Amino acid sequence: VARTYVVTGSASGIGRSTGARLEAKGCRVIGVDRRDADVIADLSTPSGREAVLDGVLALTDTLDAVVACAGVAVPTPLSVRVNYFGAVASLQALRPLLARGDQPRAVVVVSLAAILPTHDELVAACLAGDEERAVGLAAELGASEERALIYASSKRALARWLRQTASTDEWAGSSIPLNGVAPGVIDTPMTAGVLADERIRESVERQVPMPLGGVGAPEAVAALLDWLSGAENVLTTGQIVFIDGGADAVLRGDTGW
Ligand SMILES: NC(=O)c1ccc[n+]([C@@H]2O[C@H](COP(=O)([O-])OP(=O)(O)OC[C@H]3O[C@@H](n4cnc5c(N)ncnc54)[C@H](O)[C@@H]3O)[C@@H](O)[C@H]2O)c1
Repeated sequence: VARTYVVTGSASGIGRSTGARLEAKGCRVIGVDRRDADVIADLSTPSGREAVLDGVLALTDTLDAVVACAGVAVPTPLSVRVNYFGAVASLQALRPLLARGDQPRAVVVVSLAAILPTHDELVAACLAGDEERAVGLAAELGASEERALIYASSKRALARWLRQTASTDEWAGSSIPLNGVAPGVIDTPMTAGVLADERIRESVERQVPMPLGGVGAPEAVAALLDWLSGAENVLTTGQIVFIDGGADAVLRGDTGW
């Protein structure tokens, strides 16, 4: 029987590539995005997050997997709203549909950036569920030299949420693996501007060193998302799998082992 998936961020990049891969395997894919999707919803707003659940429920009351890819890489509060609050809201809202599914799984796209420097209070405000405080802190950072901390903090908070949540009754206790992937630099519309400018590209490559062949393709991430969200994954949960050409190994070495 074909599995039914929700893929957020399905209109572009990693989400688009993942949806195409799953459809080619015969899965039913319900795409969620701001544009060009089965369910049009803006994950940066509370009403948009409600529209995700309403839109999906209009199409199905059961899901076998959710792959949450939607995200933005901007040095503004929008990164906090979409990457943390939008991703968490999508997974929480769709969890009851997963609970009715067959071998249900959820995966969320974190980022290698989650191990880069972050802003502790911003991360804490996200995890406390205090969106207005988080957005306020991000607005202050956005006006400073430290604006790069916003994206990294949104992804660090997402990683911590995942680690805190995966083993709970609602997820592992309900037989729903919940994992993340942490891509290095992937060639998608998100990074096109950065990669096109040689000077910026070189600085990104220094910040995210990828000795295994450099910048990756979205299809590589789609393959990993496919496995983590598929029925074959019966024992992996609470993990954030780096798909980064070796960047994590270069940057963190053997720390934590
Ligand atoms: N490209 C990279 O190098 C890279 C690296 C690490 C992590 N990531 C993460 O991977 C995910 C996918 O990124 P991508 O590279 O495919 O980018 P992309 O820009 O190609 O695709 C992102 C998609 O998310 C959608 N989206 C953005 N804001 C939204 C909102 N408010 N509501 C609904 N949909 C929204 C966009 O419309 C777009 O279709 C993101 O979470 C990103 O942070 C990307």
